[in-house]
Amino acid sequence: MNSSQVLPPLREDEYVALKRSIQENGVLVPIECDEQGNVLDGHHRFKACRELGIKDWPRIVRKGMMEEESLEHVLTLNLDRRHLTPEERDNVIRQVRSRGLSVRSIAQVMHVGVATVHRAISAGVPSGTPATVRGTDGKRHPAQRERALCAPPLGVHFSSETAEWCTPGEIIERVQRVLGAIDLDPCSDSRDAPHVPAQEHYTREDDGLAHLWRGRVYLNPPYGRELPAWIDKLLGEYGSGRIAEAIALLPARTDTQWFRKLRSFPRCFLWGRLRFSEASSGAPFPSMIVYVGDRWERFVEVFSDIGDVYALVELPGRGSSVGGNSNWLWDGT
Ligand SMILES: C[S@@+](CC[C@H](N)C(=O)[O-])C[C@H]1O[C@@H](n2cnc3c(N)ncnc32)[C@H](O)[C@@H]1O
Repeated sequence: MNSSQVLPPLREDEYVALKRSIQENGVLVPIECDEQGNVLDGHHRFKACRELGIKDWPRIVRKGMMEEESLEHVLTLNLDRRHLTPEERDNVIRQVRSRGLSVRSIAQVMHVGVATVHRAISAGVPSGTPATVRGTDGKRHPAQRERALCAPPLGVHFSSETAEWCTPGEIIERVQRVLGAIDLDPCSDSRDAPHVPAQEHYTREDDGLAHLWRGRVYLNPPYGRELPAWIDKLLGEYGSGRIAEAIALLPARTDTQWFRKLRSFPRCFLWGRLRFSEASSGAPFPSMIVYVGDRWERFVEVFSDIGDVYALVELPGRGSSVGGNSNWLWDGT
């Protein structure tokens, strides 16, 4: 099987149209081959030429490419012009994984989150996992290093305070759609194989609270006692202008002081309970996504199909209708 065959074949009508175009106009986009003459890109163009008896087609010979490099190359060339269904995409993910591409490389080249890649792989045949994979650094690593380190311990009771609660792929994809790209994940599960595809990551060892943040931030902090410190840090970094925009995935604890500190930012209360990372069931608490930045319309556009977006309403000149010191109120943490 050559590299191009990881992609599903064209539909019959698409292939007929391509063949007709080649008959009328010739091959407009060169067919790419490796040194052995294997077609890397242009499988359908090559087939149409053979069927039409065209022998002199334009070609580009790519020299010295490793198997994994040609896979990445083919995917990069094809994914923009092919519209894959989610099932076709997952199938491609499984195929390239079984042929040695790392989860991160696949996520990068296919423009999806690491969680989506993990989900597609785990939904497929287990024998598709290779012993070693080629990482984004171009080196080979044992495949098990790629497992999401933050997967909650399945079948074990875990509390909102102790579990890792890694972001589901559907949320990461939406965050990317709002922000364009994620510059920083300040509380990451891993430096080598991070769950969130950000440019920069701070892990527990780095201590994301002790660093300056920058750019577009995605925050899914530890949900324990330290959570308020992360909210203060987020607001401080945004106030300083160092971060342009941020999206935070948080438990919807409307009774807490930290929740009230975020009151001026729109938030999407997610319907139902999130299934975090590879957890077998929903979380034991509701979740919300808070948007910190100026482009709130984009946030509403992208998130309003998975929850309701709320913003604070105040009467002009009156501020909040409920004061913070009412003696019938008790503030949570
Ligand atoms: C809820 S998980 C989120 C993981 C990942 N960012 C995601 O969204 O899938 C919170 C992560 O923060 C990490 N963490 C805990 N304390 C931290 C600190 N002081 N600085 C950076 N990361 C920290 C934990 O190890 C954990 O992996």
